Formats: sequence, C-alpha cells, structure tokens
Amino acid sequence: MSKVRIYTLARDLGVDNNKMLEILDGLGVSYKSVSSTIEEDTVELIKQILEEEAAAGTAAPADSAPVQASAPQAAPTQPETQAASAPQPQAAATATAEREPVAASAPAAPSAPELPHRAPVVTIMGHVDHGKTSLLDYIRKTKVAAKEAGGITQHVGAFEARTSKGKVVFIDTPGHEAFTTIRARGANVADIAIIVIAADDSLMPQTREAIAHAQAAKVPMIVAINKIDLPQADPERVKTDLTQLNLVPEEYGGDLIVVPVSARTGEGVEDLLEYISLTAELEDLRADPKGEFSGVIIESRVDRQAGVLATVMVQEGTLRVGDFLVVGENYGKIKAMTDSNGGRIKEAGPSTPVQVLGFSEAPASGEKVFSAKNEHAARELIAQRVSDRRDAEAARTQRRRTLEEMMGP
Ligand code: GTP
Ligand code: MG
Repeated sequence: MSKVRIYTLARDLGVDNNKMLEILDGLGVSYKSVSSTIEEDTVELIKQILEEEAAAGTAAPADSAPVQASAPQAAPTQPETQAASAPQPQAAATATAEREPVAASAPAAPSAPELPHRAPVVTIMGHVDHGKTSLLDYIRKTKVAAKEAGGITQHVGAFEARTSKGKVVFIDTPGHEAFTTIRARGANVADIAIIVIAADDSLMPQTREAIAHAQAAKVPMIVAINKIDLPQADPERVKTDLTQLNLVPEEYGGDLIVVPVSARTGEGVEDLLEYISLTAELEDLRADPKGEFSGVIIESRVDRQAGVLATVMVQEGTLRVGDFLVVGENYGKIKAMTDSNGGRIKEAGPSTPVQVLGFSEAPASGEKVFSAKNEHAARELIAQRVSDRRDAEAARTQRRRTLEEMMGP
C-alpha cells in the first residue's frame, strides 16, 4: 500500500491545500502538515467526497436558463468496477458560448468580497557563511554574493523574485554576530523564515539566534540544509541537532519542514520553493491594494549623488510617486521609485519592496511608514508625534526628580 503526501494529492486532484485539510478534519484523520502522508484508503475516501461535492455542485445552479437540452444523456450506467471514475466531460460549454453573447454568466455565489492574495515575504536567516546570499543568488540567477565587500552581508537586501510558483519576496539578512537587530527586524516583516544551515557545520550560535527570532515573531519556519554538495556534508547530523532544540523534522515524526539544498548545484532549490508556496498558501496571505497605505523601512542609506534612498516594503495599500510619507518624525515626498531590479516604477502594491527617493533624512530601518494626504497633513502628524515624545520625556524627567528627592541627598 503506497502512501501519498497531502499536498501532492491536492495538486493531483486540483483542489487547494486548505480544502484538503478541511476534508481530512471532517474525516477525523490526523496529520502534522500538508507534507504529511496519508493512507490509500483515505485517498479513496477523499476522492469520493470530492466527486460527491462536484456532482452536487453541478446540480446546484437552479436559476440558470435551460441547460444543454441537446446532448443526449447516455443512460446512467452503473460502473461495473471501482476503477478510475471518469472525469465529467465539459465539452458542451464552448459550443453554447458562441450563440448567446454574454448574458447569463457564471452563477456567482453571493459571498463577501475577499481581499486579493499577496506574495509571501520570506526572510532568509542563519549563521555567517552558511550560504544565505548564495541561495538567493541561485534563485535570482544573479551573482550578488561575489560582489559583496569581504563576502559578508552587512545589510538587509529585499528582492522580488519570480519563481515557477509565482512571485516571492525574499529578504536577505546578515549572519555575522554583530547584526542581531537587523536579523530581528528581518524576522518581524517576514511571513515565512528560511533558516539556512550549512550541512558541514550544523547548528551554530547565529543559527540558534535566527531560530529564536523566528519563534519570537511567530513566523513559520522552513529549514534549508545547504551545501549538501560538499563531501563532508552531514545533513543527518543537522536534523539530530535540530531535534535537540525541540524542532523535530518531519522524517522523525515532527512537523518541521527540512529541505536539503545546494546553492552551488541548485539541487533541492525547486523543492524549497515548493514548500515556500505551500506554506504561503496555508497562511492565506491577503492585503488590500486599494486600502490605506502602510509599510515598513527595510533599510536606508545616503547616496552622495541621489540623496537619501530608503527601501520600503509595501504592506497595505499602494504607494505612488508624489505621495507624502511619514516615518517617525521624518517625512518625505516620493520623487522617484524603483523596483528591486532597479527599474523605474510609478506605483507599487502590497508585498513589493521599493526604493524610494524623497526623504531628507535617512529613516531608521524597522520603522513603520504611513502616508499623509499632503504636506500639511504630514507636518501636522509629525508635530503631534514630537509633542507626544516631549511630553513623555518631561514625564520621565519629572519621575526621576521625584525619585531623587525622595531618596534625599
Ligand atoms: P553572510 O551574509 O556573511 O552571513 O554569509 P551567507 O550566509 O550569505 O553566505 P554566502 O552566500 O556569502 O556564502 C558563503 C560561502 O559559502 C561562499 O564562499 C559560497 O560560495 C559558499 N557556499 C554557499 N552555498 C554553497 C553550497 O551550496 N555549496 C558550496 N560548496 N559552497 C557554498
Ligand atoms: Mg550573505
């Protein structure tokens, strides 16, 4: 009897993973995640349920006009064997379409308008030199790591990548021990954290730190065991070491997804992307491109010629050239915007990292960004923030003085 993974079955049957989990819940079948395997008997049950639902679904649109009177329905023959149930033929649909121009369209279910999906923001974290940037390079098919000073990542880079599974926004973080706060910020903006662990080095101090950041930010984690191309690679040791942190890989009966990869040969990278899209699907990430804008500063720097360049991750709403942005006590009007490939753009929706030109001072990374209707509104908002801060400072000073007086000379 062969077993099948839940997500493979979902894909083969053309339903989404959440739907599949719903059915399993209904059947009382336990599972750890979508990559858990299920028994063949269960697969048969699921197929039956889906067939029944499909049959009920096609019978439903009662209000629609006379249905295909043409096709002479073959007598409903009882299938003699339990063999593969034939899929419903859908040929008639195209034939009828050419007569009636539009009119009775699909029977739209009157459900509340749902927000559109957005791309997942995936932060790559791990110990220094374990291959985070190289892995992203492989995904982007570029060569960023080779160009970095000393081969060490010193900032957070955000890239938009088109993978075979759709758009994914990746955030690279440094592994060097000095950059704890940058890693923490990276974890905070993430929907998914990829913990990169070199197969020849296993768990190291910044690996543990990265795991702690992801856990603190309550972000789902996927472990990528990198450098499996090396002769001294020992992925099993990495898995055992993870177990000691109470992170139990799926093969060991836990629910941690662990994917062996090589940023050098590309082995396993497709699997990793697949797990990212599966995890994203389960997270059901949505945002309103028409809503009020909000975002977060990923990084900022001062370019001698261009001025302040800030990388903003759009989280809600849409950012447009000409908008006024407020960050902390600082504001700016967007003069120009570029996407992560350096192309000029006029607007950017949710889950898009953009570089913005227009701040007069470099905003601190990790700060929330809001928009203001116009310059006046931006100034007012900042004036309010300044006064709030002064009040808080004054209160603190007062408390300290009182305390000092109480303590005496
Ligand atoms: P920091 O940003 O400084 O934390 O490092 P990093 O994790 O981004 O590592 P980086 O991608 O810069 O790679 C470090 C070294 O490991 C480089 O020399 C890479 O060529 C090498 N490397 C990365 N991935 C692989 C791999 O899959 N196999 C092998 N053999 N070498 C790799
Ligand atoms: Mg790096």
